[in-house]
Amino acid sequence: MAQLIDGKGISAQVKERIRQETAEFVKQTGITPGLAVVIVGNNSASRVYVNNKKKACEAVGFRSEEYALPEETTQQELLDLVDKLNRDEAIHGILVQLPLPKQISEDRVIEAISPDKDVDAFHASNVGKIMQGEYRFLPCTPAGVMELLHASGISPAGKECVVVGRSNIVGKPMAMLLLHENGTVTICHSRTKELAEVTRRAEILVAAVGKAKFITADMVRPGAVVIDVGMNRDENGKLCGDVDFDPVAEVASAITPVPGGVGPMTIAMLMQNTLTAAKAQAECR
Ligand code: GUN
Repeated sequence: MAQLIDGKGISAQVKERIRQETAEFVKQTGITPGLAVVIVGNNSASRVYVNNKKKACEAVGFRSEEYALPEETTQQELLDLVDKLNRDEAIHGILVQLPLPKQISEDRVIEAISPDKDVDAFHASNVGKIMQGEYRFLPCTPAGVMELLHASGISPAGKECVVVGRSNIVGKPMAMLLLHENGTVTICHSRTKELAEVTRRAEILVAAVGKAKFITADMVRPGAVVIDVGMNRDENGKLCGDVDFDPVAEVASAITPVPGGVGPMTIAMLMQNTLTAAKAQAECR
């Protein structure tokens, strides 16, 4: 049976460090880091994520403001809100929860967020910095994965790393962070031929496809480290990842559970980015 990588426990340590740093920052500057979380419509998964983000803000000593807008919100209304938050000195980070309703262009909204407040690191200028290996803001989910690896004593250096999924939020930045730490990185996707052959090469396998139990034991190299970014419901409505956990845990050397693996780390990295943003903005005043 594989070693279980405990995202809940590791994220609690990261958040405790951020809580202490925040207390020190508030003492020195009188500024409380502020995060605005914007949610549009009634996506139930988004509601859970947003609630967890707000709870984490409280736990580390940030101020959080929630803006819950109706499903029929227009793009201009959302852009107006982003503009207001960009100019609000008490707000250091802006997070617009995705996905957005179909009448709103996610790209337009992401590009409207001030890069200085873009704590998701989705804005083109922050994505560009990540490509160049300069990390003002960390891409939250991939950075959370890296923290899990570090905390577990696993280095990607010189290893075969395979990322399944090529999204802008996870797959692409994940590949960059692994590359930055000297992994030999392959990105697979829905058009990859002989997928199992490629995934079986992985010493570190990251699954970010969004399909329940997609990675089966025959796709995993014995002794591999398996990181599951998925958050799905199985046929019985139970929360599960992209990895078929029980059989894969028999083959892998280490594995993240769902829930309690990558999810809590994503939120911890968001807290880290918000503190980084507040510190940078305090210096500019
Ligand atoms: N939807 C799913 N994951 C994320 C995330 O990390 N940030 C935002 N803003 N929306 C998401």
